[in-house]
Amino acid sequence: MKIIRAKDYKDMSRKAANIISAQIIMKPNCVLGLATGSTPIGTYDQLVEWYNKGDLDFSEVTTVNLDEYKGLTRENDQSYYYFMNDKLFSRVNINKDRTFLPDGMEPDSDKACRDYNEIIASVGGVDLQLLGLGHNGHIGFNEPGMAFEAETHCVNLTESTMKANQRFFASMDEVPKQAYTMGIKTIMQAKKILIVISGEDKAQIVKEAFFGPITPKVQASVLQLHNDVIVVADEAALSLVK
Ligand code: GLP
Repeated sequence: MKIIRAKDYKDMSRKAANIISAQIIMKPNCVLGLATGSTPIGTYDQLVEWYNKGDLDFSEVTTVNLDEYKGLTRENDQSYYYFMNDKLFSRVNINKDRTFLPDGMEPDSDKACRDYNEIIASVGGVDLQLLGLGHNGHIGFNEPGMAFEAETHCVNLTESTMKANQRFFASMDEVPKQAYTMGIKTIMQAKKILIVISGEDKAQIVKEAFFGPITPKVQASVLQLHNDVIVVADEAALSLVK
């Protein structure tokens, strides 16, 4: 695990975008695994800026996203489909037919998960997976539990995740209670993993996830076993580790 210390959020975003750019330049038809949440927004903004300068070409890139809320339409501005279009896909020359997320409107969970596993297999797996880190150590929507789930599955979101998401919805009733997420095995099969983390409120979980025991109670701790993980975190997020 390589830890890159960034000064602040902006510096973290630039460093992460640099790594993603390098991937696209080295392999223009790469498969990027992408993430939502507030942390990667600056990274996407930076990629768009470089695209606008003519330094990046997304025309051959394929993307698979980590997760999607169950029951939100693509038009719902809180769906991850909407988020990805808004923050990245509509702003660069990516082929929209090559951008994939789990189908949040598929009510049959088994089918939604099976279909998404097939999509990931059909694109040939992920070259570079971008991740954020939840306050409880979740990656994607793999919540703390008794085991590491292998492939795409339907999760019941924890109270703490729903609370964290509440700020985006009119009321707690509107916050989705379930989501489809890539599993840990799929994430771990990515050739390279890049995790972006910012802010003092993540310092405790950074310490537990990367310097504590490997346990499904802190799902991100499994990343310690991957042979090519880059953590790009700002000083605030690293404030509890030497
Ligand atoms: C959500 C997403 C995760 C993300 C996490 C952290 O739960 N499903 O993929 O990493 O939030 O979000 P933030 O970056 O806003 O702290």
